[in-house]
Amino acid sequence: MSNNILKHLAIIMDGNGRWAKQRGLMRTKGHEQGANTIRDITQYCAEHETIETVTLYAFSTENWKRPKYEVDFLMRLLDRWLKQELPTYHRFGARFETVGNIEGFSPKLQETIASIKEQTADHTNVTQILALNYGSRYEIAKAASQLAKRGEEITEDSLGRELNTPYQDIDLLVRTSGEQRLSNFLLWQLSYSEFYFTKTLWPDFTPMELEEIINQYLHRDRRFGAVV
Ligand code: IPE
Ligand code: IPE
Ligand code: MG
Repeated sequence: MSNNILKHLAIIMDGNGRWAKQRGLMRTKGHEQGANTIRDITQYCAEHETIETVTLYAFSTENWKRPKYEVDFLMRLLDRWLKQELPTYHRFGARFETVGNIEGFSPKLQETIASIKEQTADHTNVTQILALNYGSRYEIAKAASQLAKRGEEITEDSLGRELNTPYQDIDLLVRTSGEQRLSNFLLWQLSYSEFYFTKTLWPDFTPMELEEIINQYLHRDRRFGAVV
């Protein structure tokens, strides 16, 4: 029996488009439905005894390649959703944070993001980090270049601290929808994480399934290279 603790959970929320397609709906409907799953999972994490941080991949630097109408829809959905969810952030005691280059978003959306961050800054049950316009290679390259510009030594410690995600290491990564790849998500921070891939599409993903995954994680043998 191992004694794993789960403090930092990360999720690649994938499969919204396929969920919609299966029902003969527009992909955008899948994104709308997927937003509800975010709420349920955040509530679960806020109520969970040991989870301190949940990082959710919501929009990658590669997602700009999608048709303009889908990208525009996602931006509007995010704006509307954040405003609408403020009471639930308060109710769950969840603090909202982001990683990624939100400077790439419209000033209006940036303002909404800043305002929700500010209004939830004191919540302590869980920190929900949305990865928005996030790409891990860019994050690492930028951190190295910042250190170099300042003439600082590049070490695991200094580079780790320079990343936009100076939070604790990720314990468990879950990806929904059956794809088994990282898609440029948190390459550095996932070095020693446990991975779990489920076929469930994100809009169908539930706290109950997450609980089963966590129970499985708790029994895994994490050796970190040592002999135990
Ligand atoms: C994940 O669902 C949401 C985003 C990447 C914004 P997808 O939109 O990738 O859904 P599939 O993979 O096409 O089913
Ligand atoms: C990864 O999903 C990005 C997010 C979940 C936000 P994608 O659907 O964009 O990734 P690929 O195209 O399957 O690698
Ligand atoms: Mg996808």
